[in-house]
Amino acid sequence: MKSLLALSSFLLLGAVAAQEVQSKPFYLVIASAGKKSYNGQKLAACHTGAAIESICLAGTSGSEFYLNTTKGEEAAIKGEGLSGTLIWNLPYNGDEDLSEPMNFYSDPSTNVALALFEPGYTQQEVFFDKKSEMAIYSYYNDAVTPPTDDTAKILKNWYICETNFSGYTYTTLNWVLGNGKAKPQNPSCVKVQVKRKFV
Ligand SMILES: *[C@@H]1O[C@H](CO)[C@@H](O)[C@H](O)[C@H]1NC(C)=O
Ligand SMILES: *[C@@H]1O[C@H](CO)[C@@H](O)[C@H](O)[C@H]1NC(C)=O
Repeated sequence: MKSLLALSSFLLLGAVAAQEVQSKPFYLVIASAGKKSYNGQKLAACHTGAAIESICLAGTSGSEFYLNTTKGEEAAIKGEGLSGTLIWNLPYNGDEDLSEPMNFYSDPSTNVALALFEPGYTQQEVFFDKKSEMAIYSYYNDAVTPPTDDTAKILKNWYICETNFSGYTYTTLNWVLGNGKAKPQNPSCVKVQVKRKFV
């Protein structure tokens, strides 16, 4: 009984510690030195399967996204943003929303990983840096032997590419796997910055 009580208070503490804090809604806006026509275009969730969405280049009408961070969390690098889950709300049943986390879908044949919103718990955390640009904190470094996994660094391997995921050919947001030095093998990919602009 005692251990059960200890366990339940532990679980309760866990639940409190993991409390999610949702940001205000924002747009994601593209900037690209490589392709001027992409500059200023917003991103939008686009249907690519049952309750699955890619993040498409969408001109002037973008979707509203959110960042879920954890209460009490601190930034991995001082002065930078808090790491959290990029969220898009999938409308269903007319008036309800399903809070969907962003994850990377990766196919063994390519180093270009597709950003997808899907129901569930698997997710790729992101953050927004001092310039409001979307980025990822990375710790792992296997470009040295033995590999290290301690110091946080900032990666922004975002590309807009033509992709074909489950039969949907779209112009989508992608991440090139690696430490930022690798080139995407998909020839349509254009390097971009992804800026947060609050609604
Ligand atoms: C994001 O945070 C909101 C507010 O706490 C919560 O309702 C929602 O379920 C969270 N989404 C995910 C995918 O965890
Ligand atoms: C995309 O992939 C699907 C199979 O999932 C295929 O049927 C379709 O032809 C492909 N689209 C193009 C433009 O090749």
